[in-house]
Amino acid sequence: MNDYQEIRDMVSKFADAEVAPLSAQIDREGKIPPELIKKLGENGFLGSYIPEEYGGAGMDYSSYAIIVEEISRACASTGVLVSAHTSLCVWPILEFGTEEQKKKYLPKLATGEWIGSFCLSEPGAGSDAGSLTTFAEDKGDHFEINGSKNWITNGREADIAIVFAKTKKTDDYKGISAIIVETKSPGYEIIKIEDKLGIRGSSTAALAYDNIKVPKENLLGQPEKGFRVAMATLDGGRIGIAAQALGISEAAFRYARNYALERVQFGKPLANLQAIQFMLADMSTKIAASRLLIHDASQKKDRGEFYSKTSAQAKLFAAEAAMWITTKAIQVCGGNGYTKEYPVERYFRDAKITEIYEGTSEIQRIVIASNELKEAAR
Ligand code: CAA
Repeated sequence: MNDYQEIRDMVSKFADAEVAPLSAQIDREGKIPPELIKKLGENGFLGSYIPEEYGGAGMDYSSYAIIVEEISRACASTGVLVSAHTSLCVWPILEFGTEEQKKKYLPKLATGEWIGSFCLSEPGAGSDAGSLTTFAEDKGDHFEINGSKNWITNGREADIAIVFAKTKKTDDYKGISAIIVETKSPGYEIIKIEDKLGIRGSSTAALAYDNIKVPKENLLGQPEKGFRVAMATLDGGRIGIAAQALGISEAAFRYARNYALERVQFGKPLANLQAIQFMLADMSTKIAASRLLIHDASQKKDRGEFYSKTSAQAKLFAAEAAMWITTKAIQVCGGNGYTKEYPVERYFRDAKITEIYEGTSEIQRIVIASNELKEAAR
């Protein structure tokens, strides 16, 4: 099923009924209720991109991006749970996994019985992901993993993690392998859940790995080709984060527009003032442009075309648009918008991370520029 309007209507109804009423509580309490995660699974939103033969909904990536956008419109924390689970854990297993790995993990990930995460970043390896130092020592029939990971989305909820570790000692990315690790394995420890500015319901964990034993068959893709797995995965993940940013922008825009229609100053609704209309016009235009870029990137991915540059452009644009739009939404709502009684301050706090995770805006510019320069040299 890939009728995009039908999918949007269906997810939008779910998001308004089941997610939006919980969003303030999720932000306040710093936790997504397990019952909501269960409902996401029951409705197929955690397995949208998984083929039906592995228990998923068999949708395409463009549909998945719409799901993330609509859920993020209702709650950005819940949106990123879906996004990190699907683009960063499900996708690499689908793309690089053996048949045994797919049969073992995808059905559980499709229903939400298991939640996934992606463990690349480390205290000393953020934007420079290739400099990670977690090591997986070859012990014959298994690896023994030691090291630490930082800023791991879904770190609290995850049952499995795509872990990037060096299997060969190198100073650069060349020794990195990708390994599927079950988080119940002895030695897999959550050290800290970060206290954050925004997406407060989404868990961001610091992890320690202490002699975790993982069977060799859990190697994902070729040994020492893990950096390519990470980069290819992030190309798709960036579409998910762009969709999350777009959902936040849409929520902020709708709130500001409705507020401007109702709030009376100088004897007329704010919406009658051109200064306000101009802000709404720019918000609406940035939203339309974000949506087109995201759809272009996801369509390229669905058609099997090169999409690395377009996904970076979509994330860069949608994230910066979300920051601008949420700032202006507070401006439209004035003093009210600055208080916690109104949701626009939450949208503003939630938007900021989209300029940081899955590659900062500066990293997106590096990816875009390097692709443009490569194209020019051809
Ligand atoms: N797809 C496949 N392979 C790719 C690739 C892509 N898009 N981009 C690069 N590669 C490959 C290259 O082909 C090369 O491999 P070979 O040597 O085998 O040919 C290798 O990767 C190295 O390429 P580069 O020399 O271009 O890489 P670099 O070291 O200069 O780094 C970078 C490039 C863009 C800066 C990269 O390090 C990067 O994207 N950094 C940001 C990392 C990031 O996004 N981190 C976020 C972590 S996830 C997260 O946010 C947490 C969460 O839970 C949400």
